[in-house]
Amino acid sequence: MPLRLVLISACLCLWAGLAHADGDAEAGAQVFKKCGACHTASEPVNRVGPSLMGVIGRPVATFAGYSYSGAMKDFGEGGKVWDEDLLAEYLLSPKAMVTGTKMSFPGLKKPQDIENVIAYLKTTATK
Ligand code: HEC
Repeated sequence: MPLRLVLISACLCLWAGLAHADGDAEAGAQVFKKCGACHTASEPVNRVGPSLMGVIGRPVATFAGYSYSGAMKDFGEGGKVWDEDLLAEYLLSPKAMVTGTKMSFPGLKKPQDIENVIAYLKTTATK
């Protein structure tokens, strides 16, 4: 194969790898310890924050029995759902996306941590 083609295919692979990078749920469980002060994802129980069990695919601010801030309720208006993209943006900077949220967590700075914690949260859906 000519060198040029080798390089192009290497680039494409790398790009595809990044675009479809799947987080590592085990590493995500470690990252989740940062959330664990306020959330559980293994039980349908509210703590300082709402249970995050099965949060991926759940409409914003709808976990039963949890008293959300007005900011979070407003944000969820119109049936917004926590899909992976929305959650990734939120976790980067919760207060930037939901101004006035009572989740006092500065955010996760590393994209890899965000991907991993999302992978972990996906595993909690059926438990
Ligand atoms: C200091 C406590 C605290 C920490 C740490 C924390 N959260 Fe929260 N979280 C909250 C509170 C409080 C709310 C409710 C926000 C509101 O009503 O404005 C919330 C809400 C959420 C929601 C919205 C849930 C829903 O039902 O709409 C998600 C998703 C979330 N947190 C994810 C996380 C993740 C993932 C982490 C760790 C990376 C984390 N949180 C860390 C306190 C925290």
